[in-house]
Amino acid sequence: MIEVNQALEFHIKNSKVSYIFRVMEKTGILEHLYFGAAIASEKSYLYLVERELRTGNNLLTGDYTSSLEHIKQEFPVYGTTDFRYPAISVKYPAGDTISHFRYQSHRIIAGKEKISGLPQTFGKKENCETLIVQLQDQYSKLVLELFYTIFTDSASIIRSAQIKNNGSETFQIEQLASASFDLPDNDYELVHLTGAWARETHIERKQLFTGRQEISSTRGASSHIHNPFMALCRPNTTELLGEVYGFSLIYSGNFSAQVEVDTYHVSRCQIGINPFQFQWQLAPGTSFHSPEAVLTFTKKGLNGMSQNFHDLFRNHLINQKWVKKERPILVNNWEATYFDFTEEKILRLAQSAKECGIEMLVLDDGWFKGRNNDETSLGNWQVDEKKIPNGLPNLSEKIHQVGLKFGLWFEPEMISSDTPLFQKNPEYRLGQSQKNISHGRNQYVLDFSNPEVVETIFQQMAAILSTVEIEYVKWDMNRYISEAYSSFLSKEQQGEVFHRYILGVYNLYEKILTKFPDLLIESCAGGGGRFDPGLLYYAPQTWASDDTDAVERLKIQSGASMVYPLSTIGGHISAVPNHQVGRTTTLKMRGDVALFSTFGYELDLNQLNAAEKQEIAQQIQTYHKYSSLIQTGDFYQLACETNQVAWLVVSKNKQEALVGFYQILAQPNQPYVRLKLTGLAKDTSYQVNGEKLRTSSSLENIGLILNENYTDRTKEYWTRQQQHDFSSRIFHLQQMQPE
Ligand code: DGJ
Repeated sequence: MIEVNQALEFHIKNSKVSYIFRVMEKTGILEHLYFGAAIASEKSYLYLVERELRTGNNLLTGDYTSSLEHIKQEFPVYGTTDFRYPAISVKYPAGDTISHFRYQSHRIIAGKEKISGLPQTFGKKENCETLIVQLQDQYSKLVLELFYTIFTDSASIIRSAQIKNNGSETFQIEQLASASFDLPDNDYELVHLTGAWARETHIERKQLFTGRQEISSTRGASSHIHNPFMALCRPNTTELLGEVYGFSLIYSGNFSAQVEVDTYHVSRCQIGINPFQFQWQLAPGTSFHSPEAVLTFTKKGLNGMSQNFHDLFRNHLINQKWVKKERPILVNNWEATYFDFTEEKILRLAQSAKECGIEMLVLDDGWFKGRNNDETSLGNWQVDEKKIPNGLPNLSEKIHQVGLKFGLWFEPEMISSDTPLFQKNPEYRLGQSQKNISHGRNQYVLDFSNPEVVETIFQQMAAILSTVEIEYVKWDMNRYISEAYSSFLSKEQQGEVFHRYILGVYNLYEKILTKFPDLLIESCAGGGGRFDPGLLYYAPQTWASDDTDAVERLKIQSGASMVYPLSTIGGHISAVPNHQVGRTTTLKMRGDVALFSTFGYELDLNQLNAAEKQEIAQQIQTYHKYSSLIQTGDFYQLACETNQVAWLVVSKNKQEALVGFYQILAQPNQPYVRLKLTGLAKDTSYQVNGEKLRTSSSLENIGLILNENYTDRTKEYWTRQQQHDFSSRIFHLQQMQPE
């Protein structure tokens, strides 16, 4: 899959994509030539080289042809005639930041090497190849290695960069992108996910302009505001058609994804750790490896890009143990009780849950000593005997006796100031003690850049996980870092706090999962504040939002599904009026929305009447029927309009499909609605909801017809069944041979 010729032109390819760059003869700098749909191998790619001597160029010493300002680059640096933003910036002992990384060597390996301490894609020798290009700084003993992995089954290139200090002095890394390359034109729209608490992952799409546009986080987490993802699509791109480049960073901390369009319409695309508040002391003999970036390309529109990400994450990022395994249907007590619960209440909830067919009870926030509101007790992971007098092992045992699994909430990265841990070790808190240390939700952030702190929390969690039968942990994180200062690190290392913090988080995940390998972890950060591929490596599902309203969830889950597989999106059915927006939707719609996610409940089942409990039992049966299809199939966003949303999942073998159609408000005298399907098998027929047999060509070209066909006046409109507000319909398609 990786070809290199004598002229040092590299072509990384599979049947779906090609990625080409070369080594420039005089400078040894890497020149980017192409990334896009697969092209045939050629003897030379020199015809892709573009040169134009323009007035006003700065040129490298002794070279009249190479102004890097006008050359498409693979990993640009400062100090080599380019005025655009670099991918790497190093401060040298003299105080300058001028680098020149020259090609030294390359190697190609079957499979891929492991990056220590970071989440990453995985592959086997049989299904991927990695190219490692080594460059050496002309002025120092700094070595830069660029990694490119290509899988046989994915239209994606995985990139990362590593810098090694082979010298005897310390250098300061000020920036190290994971990937950078220059696209030859700017006729694109930028698509990304944005939002805030309770309205995460809303899709935004805007035309590129000349200059820099950036999506980023400076909050210590990938954040509710932006997601470490962006796409560039041609202006006419639809869900199913059009060229799209997708970028995603396998990282959960501060990131930056940017496009810089220059005055010659070249679009420099970059993604990596955010240089904001970042500096890394690279001591002699040490190295620094960036997180991995995923670059993907498709001509099949935004949905094609989504499917590229979904397949890559399912096949090469998420723990394979969980990818196909049906996740337990849970009931979480948060919206049912908030902090106000007793053992008895929880056991009653478990009993009703079991009667409905639910499989696991998750005890959320409030189970540990003194935690009766959000002002106290984080970091004191010992059971509150007032609420749970017989202890957690006993509660878990009783819940298991009811026939349910047991899950427990933790917020491992936080500390409340009234805890013994804080009082004994105030320096465990992030922040400069002489200056403002802000609280967020009345809590402080533990200094996870300090391994001792990580170990202390690990010991507390492990003590519980080893004595209580727990199958699932909800790992929450409810505030951002606004004063990144660690009293554990030296003054020179304070620029490392954000990155070391997230490495500490990953380390705790590793430790927990090494000791408790069968534990299912759902990540959460006040809802979707850390919904990113970094955490998916450890936790195969993420609580997508604290907003459980079915209408709001249509936007949130549509946005999340642009990048993340449905099997990773946590969605629950909650009570009405909804606690976040006060809306009353039907139980059917709430169920039909949650069906396209990892399914669960978050309400007091004991407040429901018999008919509602019966409906829940039905929903659970429906979920069991389709969960494997939803978890492993190809997802299509069929419609994403203000009033109507439609989702489709088609199984990989195209034998079955599931459509969810949601109408927010009813309209009188509606236009006809036809929902064209896609991705079905050719030249065959499908039974729709066990009844009508429709050909696949008709379903794809005419569509599912959503209106009833009334042909006479015997059914006046007031006698018909109305499509009320908040209505939804589910269609299951089963492939059949035509009679
Ligand atoms: C924020 C989470 O997103 C909620 O689901 C819940 O776990 C609360 N934290 C508990 O404090």
